[in-house]
Amino acid sequence: MAKEFPQAYLNGKYIDSKKALIPVQCKAVQYGLGIFSGIRGHYNPRKKNLYLFRLREHYNRLKESAKIVQMKFNYSYPQFEKIILDLIKKNKAKEDIYLRPTLYASSTSLTPRFDGNNDDLAIYMISLKDYFNSTKGLSVCISTWRRLDDDSISTKAKITGTYANSALAKTEAIQNGYDEAIFLNRDGKVCEASGANLFGIKDGVVYTPPLSANNLHGITRRSAINLLRNDLGLEVREENFDRSTLYVFDELFFTGTAAKIASIAQVDKRKIGNGKLGPVTKKLKEILDKIAIGDSEKHQKWLTPVY
Ligand SMILES: Cc1ncc(COP(=O)(O)O)c(C=O)c1O
Repeated sequence: MAKEFPQAYLNGKYIDSKKALIPVQCKAVQYGLGIFSGIRGHYNPRKKNLYLFRLREHYNRLKESAKIVQMKFNYSYPQFEKIILDLIKKNKAKEDIYLRPTLYASSTSLTPRFDGNNDDLAIYMISLKDYFNSTKGLSVCISTWRRLDDDSISTKAKITGTYANSALAKTEAIQNGYDEAIFLNRDGKVCEASGANLFGIKDGVVYTPPLSANNLHGITRRSAINLLRNDLGLEVREENFDRSTLYVFDELFFTGTAAKIASIAQVDKRKIGNGKLGPVTKKLKEILDKIAIGDSEKHQKWLTPVY
């Protein structure tokens, strides 16, 4: 179990995280009406500072999610940043952390609707190193569950209720002995994992499903595309591909805030490449790790120092 920090933020106040509770009757609990983000902070012991990764992009995605579902997210960026930084300072965090800001529908009335509620902001934080076991490549499967379509539930808003779809796929994968599941979408094209985007490499070219494939507009995905193109000089194509194409990629990896860059060793028992960490995945992982702890001058603008 990851360590939860003692202080959380709920409805405008910093409180004991054990007391950060919401009513069972509210629409967030009953209908999954909420939007959220997961944000990482990395501690650099040499610089004695903690760096939040792409905080503004997380704020922007929350703002866009709220707009899509018509929830009230009435915080300016400076207000949001201050709430987060104050929470981390109150928790005196000097380690790698993961923050969960969630705008939840707190209304307890019966009707399942997004508008007209009192939407409240809750934030808690935990310590987090690796989400996936990074010592070996992941063994993944294609889920029998399809990714929901953007015209069923917006896939561009990070909606709490959407994660029932993710949970069905993840549960099935784990019960069948895999680490993670990859969704196909309704068109049978490769989409993403239960909580991460997907990249493949074939003959030196990088492929990732386009945003229209019903995947989340991942912040790590955007960062990876930027680094693959600008720092590694590779061609990156955002295009649809199908299941069989996955099996014959030279390298495959997930990107995500929790997942970081996670190498995939096999899909449905087919070894990817030689089943070991591939050179592009390795290089990208190294670059991103260096950026995240504040050791890349060029990418300081991606970071918000806490102290
Ligand atoms: C379904 C899904 N796709 C992709 C991602 C990766 O997005 P990001 O890089 O912004 O964390 C996540 C994690 O937030 C996710 O839950």
